[in-house]
Formats: sequence, structure tokens, C-alpha cells
Amino acid sequence: MTVQAAEIPVLETKAVTKHFGALTAVNGVSLSVSHGIQSIIGPNGAGKTTFFNLLAGFLVPDKGSIFYRGKEITGLAPYEISQMGVGRSFQITSIFPNLSVFENIRVACQSRSKSRYNFFMSCEKLPGVQIAARKILSQMGLEDWADSPAKNLPYGLQRCLDIGISLATDPQILLLDEPTSGMSVEDSAVILKLIAEIAKLMPVVLIEHNIDMVLTISDRIAVLYQGLLLAEGTPAEIQGNQEVQKAYLGGY
Ligand SMILES: Nc1ncnc2c1ncn2[C@@H]1O[C@H](COP(=O)(O)OP(=O)(O)OP(=O)(O)O)[C@@H](O)[C@H]1O
Ligand SMILES: [Mg+2]
Repeated sequence: MTVQAAEIPVLETKAVTKHFGALTAVNGVSLSVSHGIQSIIGPNGAGKTTFFNLLAGFLVPDKGSIFYRGKEITGLAPYEISQMGVGRSFQITSIFPNLSVFENIRVACQSRSKSRYNFFMSCEKLPGVQIAARKILSQMGLEDWADSPAKNLPYGLQRCLDIGISLATDPQILLLDEPTSGMSVEDSAVILKLIAEIAKLMPVVLIEHNIDMVLTISDRIAVLYQGLLLAEGTPAEIQGNQEVQKAYLGGY
């Protein structure tokens, strides 16, 4: 009889805790992500962004450990975690407003190129970078805007560019913090469709407030409440969970 090796999660936390003074923003959270869309939901101040900052190395946990493909990454610097393959976008758009849409993506791709420190080499001589940037531009539906300054993009497309910039760092897993914040329902639906496409290529951890969309798009959902992991499961399990109903979902 062959024994199947247990799947090693792409990203895993074990009892991760983060205090800010007297406040426990993240309290003993254990979560593992292997594939598809893992959403994180919870009310304002539940600890969602703090949890992302711990995963990406912007904060160091006070207790607990974090693993990337089975290798401990607790305490590593953000650039080290990013270079290992953990890509993230921020709750606030982080584009270069005066660079063109294409240049925004190209600069991010170049940061991963072996020639990135050869400042005297024209970027036209880095064909791999150009090709990668074009591919992401088309993946994000931004081809028509390639030469426009990024600041001229409508807000919804700025968020697409933001995700494109995260993809340009060649991630193996993508962390997206409220990619649809401030967007219309129609624009949000477009972004979430793009995210579903990306999730076919790599696992996506998604913080999202729109519960209807979360229930539709997610493979699994984690509910944070006052820093605690209240529940984790499939959309149906979360929707049927009494505690989640009481604490957060209310009318659902
Ligand atoms: N750097 C910090 N210093 C002190 N307190 C912080 C810091 N960052 C977050 N907090 C607090 O930690 C708690 C969790 O914040 P966090 O931003 O993680 O929540 P969130 O779930 O992302 O909320 P939202 O849905 O509003 O984005 C909040 O009470 C917040 O005020
Ligand atoms: Mg947040």
C-alpha cells in the first residue's frame, strides 16, 4: 500500500499573535493555504490587514510561526519573503502616477530581472522584461491604456494595475487586501473575475468586504473577529456557521 505524502501548504501560520500595546490585533491564528481562493473576512478592525502584514514580513509576530512551502519565514524581511514568491497588494493603491501604465508594470518586472542592477542598459535591451510586462498588461485587460500615465486610469483600472504590479514580481501566491475597495459593484465584479483567473495559476489570499462576492468566488473562507479565527471552511460551511451568523453575517 502506498502512503500519500501530506500536501505541504504554500503558506501556513501556526498560532500567530500580534499585540499593539494592550490590543491583541491577531490572536493565535493558525491557517493554511494551498490552492484556489482563500478569503479572509471580518468586521473593521478584526485584524485582517495586520494578519497580511505578518504574512508578508511587514510585521513580526510576538508569538507563533509562519511557513512558506514548509520553510519557516517568521522574522524574515519583506523583500526576502517577496523574493521567495509571496506577492501582495496593499489596501491603498501603490502605483507611480506619472509613469505610463506599461512602465509601472515594466519597472516591477525589471526588479526581478538578473540585469536589474545594470542601470546603463536600456530597458529595450531586456526583451524578457518587455515580454513579461506585455503579458501582464494583457492579462489585466490594460493593453489599451499602455501608454497613458497611470494617474489617468479610472479608479477601477488603477486597482487592476496594482494587481498587475504584484504579478510582475513573479509570485507563487498572491495576497490581495481589499482589491475592490471604493469600486462600483460592476467594476468589483470585473476585478473579482480577473482574480478568479489568477487563482487558476496560483493560490490567492483575498481580503474582501462584499459578502455576496466572497461567498461566490471563494474556495475557502476564514472569519476573523477581534483578532481570533472564529471559523474556517467552505462558503457553505461559513454561511451555515451559527457563531459567524451571530458575530458577523447577521442577515445572511
Ligand atoms: N500599527 C498599528 N499600531 C497600533 N494599532 C494598530 C496598528 N495597526 C492596526 N492597529 C489596530 O489593530 C486592529 C486591527 O487592525 P487591522 O487594520 O488589522 O484591521 P482590519 O481587519 O484590516 O480592518 P479594516 O476592515 O478596517 O481594514 C485595529 O484595532 C487597529 O486599530
Ligand atoms: Mg484592513
